[in-house]
Amino acid sequence: MSRHVVTISELGNDDLRAILESARAPIDDSLFAGQGVALVFERPSLRTRAACSTAVHELGGYVTFFGDDEIGLDSRESAEDVGRTIDALYSVCAMRIRHHSVFQRIRRATMERLSLINLLSDVAHPTQAIADVLTIADHFANGDPGQLGGLRVAYVGDVTNVARSLAVALTRLGVEVVVGAPEGYQLTAGTDEDPLAVEGAKLRLTSSATEAVRGADVVYTDAWVSMGFEEETRRRRVDLDAFRIDEALLEAAASNAIVLHCLPAHRGDEITDGVMDGPQSLVWQQVAHRRSAMIGALRWIKDGE
Ligand code: CP
Ligand code: NVA
Repeated sequence: MSRHVVTISELGNDDLRAILESARAPIDDSLFAGQGVALVFERPSLRTRAACSTAVHELGGYVTFFGDDEIGLDSRESAEDVGRTIDALYSVCAMRIRHHSVFQRIRRATMERLSLINLLSDVAHPTQAIADVLTIADHFANGDPGQLGGLRVAYVGDVTNVARSLAVALTRLGVEVVVGAPEGYQLTAGTDEDPLAVEGAKLRLTSSATEAVRGADVVYTDAWVSMGFEEETRRRRVDLDAFRIDEALLEAAASNAIVLHCLPAHRGDEITDGVMDGPQSLVWQQVAHRRSAMIGALRWIKDGE
């Protein structure tokens, strides 16, 4: 059975550790020499496509990009047949998809032969979370993700795919996570990427942004309007107005706190220019870690073959 990186929840503790370690190891291999990785994007991307493409190149392989308009997942042909076709020609397929359930359908259709990497779905964004852990570990623990216990991370705003994967990864590593979100945008149980299901998690939910950020070492936010929610833009701007990361809110965090954002940022909505461009922001370090995270995931998948 091939390995997959579809959610952080599905990975065992050893798997997560192995991916993080592989991400940090120097590039001295050509594991994908002469091999292709299929990239399927049903939604737009800058960072993730760039991170994937450069990571596969670093490992000696090449990528083939398939956009939504050419593949037509479940419109031109079924997701199962797309999966079967890619399985006949590639061993790894990295996908950004609208509906998380497509992963399960392709896994079944290809009898778990084709390795899948989730590059963002409506439920999870695991390679982003791996990059975020690497960024936090670099800053607070000399790069060692095993030494993050005792840190407190505040996630503020809409609880998105990014928030769920981040919270699962961090709580599994012993980090305390406090989620500040208004009613209707808060963490709920029952998805495939569920921080509430992490055993022994130090996880607190609050409807106050200030309460969430108080004393935090890391303050994290994501878009108020994720892809697919564009029609709710006006309502979301009203509902989430008190959850903007601005200079005043950041005052409540630890004095040496860092600010993270998966990007793309909507300056003036979930984060101000002053914070995003300020001395506490490590958002560009996060971007650089996206490639390391992909390398870690790809190496871990290859190790399992
Ligand atoms: N953070 C992230 O996934 O960015 P893109 O949507 O640009 O890939
Ligand atoms: N939550 C955002 C993340 C973008 C990288 C979205 O799904 O659009």
